[in-house]
Amino acid sequence: MMHALTYIEPVFRPPSEARSLILQVTNGCSWNNCTFCEMYTQTQKGFNLKPQRKIEQELEAVARSGTPVRRIFLADGDAMTLSYRRLKLILQAINRFFPGVQRVSSYCLPRNLKNKTVSELTELKALGLELFYVGCESGDDLVLDRVNKGENFESSLAALKKIKAAGSKSSVMILNGMGGKRYSQQHAENSARLMNEAQPEYLSTLVVSFPSGLDRYQEGFKGEFEPLEQAGLFQEMFWLLDSLELENTIFRSDHASNYLVLKGILNRDKPGLLQIVRDALDRPDTVNLRPEWLRGL
Ligand SMILES: C[S@@+](CC[C@H](N)C(=O)[O-])C[C@H]1O[C@@H](n2cnc3c(N)ncnc32)[C@H](O)[C@@H]1O
Ligand code: SF4
Repeated sequence: MMHALTYIEPVFRPPSEARSLILQVTNGCSWNNCTFCEMYTQTQKGFNLKPQRKIEQELEAVARSGTPVRRIFLADGDAMTLSYRRLKLILQAINRFFPGVQRVSSYCLPRNLKNKTVSELTELKALGLELFYVGCESGDDLVLDRVNKGENFESSLAALKKIKAAGSKSSVMILNGMGGKRYSQQHAENSARLMNEAQPEYLSTLVVSFPSGLDRYQEGFKGEFEPLEQAGLFQEMFWLLDSLELENTIFRSDHASNYLVLKGILNRDKPGLLQIVRDALDRPDTVNLRPEWLRGL
């Protein structure tokens, strides 16, 4: 299947899309300014759109190869920056070549939805686009400003509400440790507040990492960023979980970046998850921690 598709590497996708066809409809990220994110900073990853004709040729080649395709992930970092018109053309082509497609998904920045209406999103959903991975990272305006996310509590909430109103699903990422020591508690509590108001279908946390060192990140924090150590990361996770009031959200904190693996449905499993984090804080020797060398992104 791979030979039918052309990729500009590196290509990132959520862990849950491991078995999906990755269709690179855009290259890079049109924002590319978050100080923690080095995913699309190499020169070949400058943002651009793949022409529709090329996308259709790739879809046709995969279809001709006979490979069964049930799920498609639209890459790269913010494919939803494409206009409603372009997305509709892509989805129509997907449906033409793969009439049995079950689900199309994409990363999505809140601002990608600003100029799209609920009825447009509903139409895209009818064509299969029904799951959006939204890197909220935090619900705290100060922290979001420090990392130059270009979004805030309100813009994030507006996008998540729009997704829900269209009948689609959101999978939100929150970054553990993103506010450092000073803003840890407000980062956790405001992130929980954002989730409580948005009620996303999926929530995952990742530990923030600094692949090219701390300098760029520290600039945004005017030099006052103090990274959290393991206990601080657990404490922040405790505050986050403790403040969450979710009706039916699948929660995962099992990415390779996490020391502690947590999975469950919230709020149903909240007491149990809080207990695991409490144990990790009080008696780190008794819980199953991922060794430092097995973390990594
Ligand atoms: C490839 S990005 C695309 C997401 C999309 N552009 C957005 O911002 O919603 C996927 C996610 O990876 C995570 N990520 C990026 N850099 C990271 C880092 N240095 N440490 C931990 N997580 C990181 C962030 O949660 C980000 O939202
Ligand atoms: S986190 Fe998302 S929006 Fe920010 S630079 Fe990375 S890909 Fe772009």
